[in-house]
Amino acid sequence: MSALGCARLALLVIVAQHFSAARDSGPHRVRLDLAGLGDAHDGALRGRSTQRGPGFEPGDPAPPFQVRTLGGQFVYPPPSGPNVSLVIHGFSNKSAFLECLWTRSASLADLVQGFPESAHALFLSVDDTAPSDALWMREQIRQAALSLRREEVLSRMHFSPVPVHELGNWIPRVLYAWGCAGINCGFDQVVFTCPEFEVPLVAKRLDARYDWLTAGWKPKLYSVAEAGDGCEPAAAVSGAVAWLSEGNCSFFTKVKNMASSGAAGVLVYASPGNPIQDMDCEGTECFTALEIPASMVHVEPAVVQALRNKQPVTVSFQKTPSPNFFIAVDQQGTLAETGWFLYPTFSFVNWQAQWFDFSAQLQRRLTVPAQVLTVFENVVMQGDPGAVATVDLPLGVTDFDVLQLEVALSCPGKRDETCAAWDHTVQLYICCDKFSPLCGLELGRWITAFHRGTGHWLTDVSPLMPLLNGKKCTFTMQTAPWAMPWVSGLHLRFSHSNQSGDGSDPLRPFKLEPLFKGGTFDHDYNSRYQPVSFTVPQATKKVEVYAVITGHGSDDNGCGEFCVTSHHFLVNGVFNNSLVFDTAGTALGCTARVGEGAVPNEGGTWLYGRAGWCDGLQVNPWKIDVTQQLNMTGRNSILYFGLFRGKDPNPKTNPGMITMYSYLVFYK
Ligand SMILES: *[C@@H]1O[C@H](CO)[C@@H](O)[C@H](O)[C@H]1NC(C)=O
Ligand SMILES: *[C@@H]1O[C@H](CO)[C@@H](O)[C@H](O)[C@H]1NC(C)=O
Ligand SMILES: *[C@@H]1O[C@H](CO)[C@@H](O)[C@H](O)[C@H]1NC(C)=O
Ligand SMILES: *[C@@H]1O[C@H](CO)[C@@H](O)[C@H](O)[C@H]1NC(C)=O
Ligand SMILES: *[C@@H]1O[C@H](CO)[C@@H](O)[C@H](O)[C@H]1NC(C)=O
Ligand SMILES: *[C@@H]1O[C@H](CO)[C@@H](O)[C@H](O)[C@H]1NC(C)=O
Repeated sequence: MSALGCARLALLVIVAQHFSAARDSGPHRVRLDLAGLGDAHDGALRGRSTQRGPGFEPGDPAPPFQVRTLGGQFVYPPPSGPNVSLVIHGFSNKSAFLECLWTRSASLADLVQGFPESAHALFLSVDDTAPSDALWMREQIRQAALSLRREEVLSRMHFSPVPVHELGNWIPRVLYAWGCAGINCGFDQVVFTCPEFEVPLVAKRLDARYDWLTAGWKPKLYSVAEAGDGCEPAAAVSGAVAWLSEGNCSFFTKVKNMASSGAAGVLVYASPGNPIQDMDCEGTECFTALEIPASMVHVEPAVVQALRNKQPVTVSFQKTPSPNFFIAVDQQGTLAETGWFLYPTFSFVNWQAQWFDFSAQLQRRLTVPAQVLTVFENVVMQGDPGAVATVDLPLGVTDFDVLQLEVALSCPGKRDETCAAWDHTVQLYICCDKFSPLCGLELGRWITAFHRGTGHWLTDVSPLMPLLNGKKCTFTMQTAPWAMPWVSGLHLRFSHSNQSGDGSDPLRPFKLEPLFKGGTFDHDYNSRYQPVSFTVPQATKKVEVYAVITGHGSDDNGCGEFCVTSHHFLVNGVFNNSLVFDTAGTALGCTARVGEGAVPNEGGTWLYGRAGWCDGLQVNPWKIDVTQQLNMTGRNSILYFGLFRGKDPNPKTNPGMITMYSYLVFYK
């Protein structure tokens, strides 16, 4: 776990507790939301039908186009074929976020180091200064690529000197129509007024990272008070927004001093010639929760002068909608959104392009021959019933030895803004014989993608084939009943494995015994489990433990979602089979799983590692071959227990939750 991860985690827990009282968040849901999101969301849904332009929505084909670039022409699709993804960026220096994205060396380094080989980028400017912007953007990337010895990446980066409003193709239409008002998109601005000013002075601002300073600016007029560099508390700022120079101490120190001086908020101005920076905490600073908003702006001489003249200066905060900053075309040649960029780094571009790689690979996997049983197609999953369907199992499907679940979760509209919020658990239950003890058990689990509708996964659940123990099966897919609707698709794909290669018959699961379920992760968690005794049926060749385990909730240790838990199946008292969720709570744990299908650039904190899961991803089963640990002719025992940092969980408040289904699977 990185120090940053630790730090943010600690803060997250504090914030979660702070927020949990205020929000109807359900058993798994006590975390940050972004101010104002709900309203924007509803508005988007209502406005949807009138704003549609045919043919230029996400999922529609991207028409061919060409654009003049610094090097010549960029032609799409490229001559090598449309099997590349393309990220199109509309730069504007009217956005402080984009200014920071393009000047932060960490951001540029992320781009040149992590931009996938299958991806191209087309850099445009919406400003009148497009010719110089193109030269500048190219130089920014060239410098980063040279210093990191990644010049190769430049061949996939294209810079156009033609301003967006002169392109003469469909790109502006999409940039404008998919305009954005979410976090870090749109023009975040400050508005200064003063009797000395003829008109209000509007300037760009970049808010401190939302996962550090969670307080937001209120829709009101604040007075402004000058307080030097803010490295010492200053009584004069009480009730006002403190106007501070950058430097001499950390952003954290400035904000902490101003908070303790009773300031309503902080504006740090960049020294002349310096860019606006990403105001973030560092290391242990992040352990202290600060409760006032803060933003960075350029120095405004008129404001400096007015304050010096002891004139009353006020400030208010606004967002002016802008064209979208980033749109994309995936490897299938369809238009795609790129989600939310939570802080200024080009990694968000890389993650989106990595996901396009995953998606292309998934399309290829879906062309492998299989017998497909459609359970749901565009079925709305909402409320207590969820999505339910009863289907006949085709004859002979249980002769296959591979069972995969193809699941897709999309939104009521084509745009991500129509998608439900939060990362909720989705569970799929199956019942093929209502008198069987196997009726109603879990067949698969996923986590919804917070405000993104592209989730699509293929999950191997072959060991659970014995759950298909009837001719007619009812499938029930459920998520939090209070969540907004998801449009779900579920296909069962039956096929033959090709694992043996030596011509021998693959082993098939013929019997399943349900084992332990999860529960409240409190002091008594482990005392609620008793060993299960079992014998191995005759002719069994292999025995496997199959468990799907996820941690949720937020106690004072961050358990179960953001704490490091371990899970153990103790076989015959001696074989201690262990799994540790060691990336839970790390700053970027779930970004590492975008290549496996974790939907990137969601709302909320999808980046953090979690206990056994990531937002927008299937939950992978833990499979343990325990054959060698068993007495095949006598009695055996198995006991589950779960630990927090190697010990029984010990929450002081608000215990978390382990969601678990586990089975013994017998193969012959
Ligand atoms: C962006 O704007 C800032 C001031 O607002 C200026 O200092 C900087 O040079 C501009 N950058 C570009 C590329 O025009
Ligand atoms: C795209 O297809 C072309 C021609 O089939 C091939 O040469 C190229 O390597 C492919 N590119 C990628 C990124 O797969
Ligand atoms: C930093 O501190 C020095 C010494 O107190 C002071 O002279 C200087 O103005 C400060 N710098 C800024 C940018 O406020
Ligand atoms: C099975 O695997 C072998 C070797 O990997 C391969 O040549 C063959 O085409 C595969 N058969 C099927 C049906 O996929
Ligand atoms: C397995 O169980 C049988 C029946 O209880 C017993 O006779 C045998 O000794 C056991 N084998 C081992 C290796 O413990
Ligand atoms: C199993 O291993 C874990 C560490 O991985 C340890 O904490 C636990 O005490 C062990 N339990 C038994 C019964 O061996």
